[in-house]
Order: sequence, then C-alpha cells, then structure tokens
Amino acid sequence: MDENKDENQLEEGASRLFHYNIFLIGFMGTGKSTVSRYLSTRFSMESVEMDAVIAKRKGMRISDIFAKFGEEYFRNLETNLLIEMQSKSNTVVSCGGGVSMRETNVKEMKKNGRVVLLTATPNTIYERVKDSHDRPLLEGHKNIPYIAQLMEARREKYEAAADIVIATDGRSESQICEELVKKLLEMDKKGVFG
Ligand code: S3P
Repeated sequence: MDENKDENQLEEGASRLFHYNIFLIGFMGTGKSTVSRYLSTRFSMESVEMDAVIAKRKGMRISDIFAKFGEEYFRNLETNLLIEMQSKSNTVVSCGGGVSMRETNVKEMKKNGRVVLLTATPNTIYERVKDSHDRPLLEGHKNIPYIAQLMEARREKYEAAADIVIATDGRSESQICEELVKKLLEMDKKGVFG
C-alpha cells in the first residue's frame, strides 16, 4: 500500500515537471509518436498527435488530404492546429515531420513550449517507414538516398527550431525519454525559456 502511495506521489510530482508544452519535431520515422505516447503515459501529460487530429477532423487519411486538397492546404491545417495549442499546457505534441519548415510554426511552438528534435539516420528511417503507406512525400521514393537528401534539405530548419536534440538510433523509448527529461530539466534549472 505504501508502495502505491509513493508511486502515486511520484506520478503527481512528475506531472508538474512540465508546465509548458513539449513539441516533438523531426523527420518522418524518428519516433515522435512513440516518444509522445511514452511521455504522456509516464508523466500524465495530455498528448496531441497532429496528423491523427487533422485526419480525424477531416474524416480523411493524410495521403487523401494531400491528394484532394494539396500540400499547402494540409500545411495550413497544421499551422492552425499549432495556434490552437496556445490554450494548452503540460501537453506533449507529436508534430508532423514538415511542421518546423514554416517559421511561423516555430514561433507558435516557442510561445508556450520547448521544441525537441528527434533524429535518426536515413537507414533507420528507411527501416521504420518502409511498410507504411500514409506518408505521401515518401510514396514512390521509399529508398535511403531519397530519404537522405530530403533530410539534408530540411536539416538547417530542424536544427534552428530545436531547443534540444536527441538521437534515437538503436535506443529504447525509455532511454530516449530519460535523456529528454534530463535535458529539459537542465534548461529549466538555468531558467532558459524561449
Ligand atoms: C510529413 C510528415 C508526416 C505527415 C505528412 C507530411 C512531412 O508526419 O505530416 O505526411 O512533411 O515530413 P510524420 O512525421 O508523423 O510521419
């Protein structure tokens, strides 16, 4: 019984670790959704999976939104959803891989959150995405050279947006989250808030 009490206290205390939002950014297949689920369970945070919210609201798969309305339309839905996140706190947001390409999106995220960049090598990404068909930008280009060049083209913007960077290759979700939490708490201690 005492053990349960300790556990509950830990969870309660943990849930107050982050009064701000955590935005997970990075290339497709870097593990944003997995890490988001883990963090939200472990720290009782609300979780928002941007692609899932957009797909649910439109009643369409992401690939169908791209095909029917075009990429620009989808990007505007992303921006509007990020603006909505201003009303939230203690929420972990798993962003679509293209979110940090728009400067205005980065500004929105920084207003009330920290931006965490997850990275992985093109080989790792390939292994993680090769059997999925809901990533229109990779459909017909699912190969390591294409992934590597798109990642390279985006690198500067990902890195500019990031408050912290975590490599995910060959690491478990708990190892990734442990590093993430440690780095965020260090930033909090230094009082750095963008
Ligand atoms: C995109 C990434 C996808 C999705 C859409 C576009 C991108 O999300 O938003 O297919 O431009 O990188 P994930 O990163 O969750 O796969």
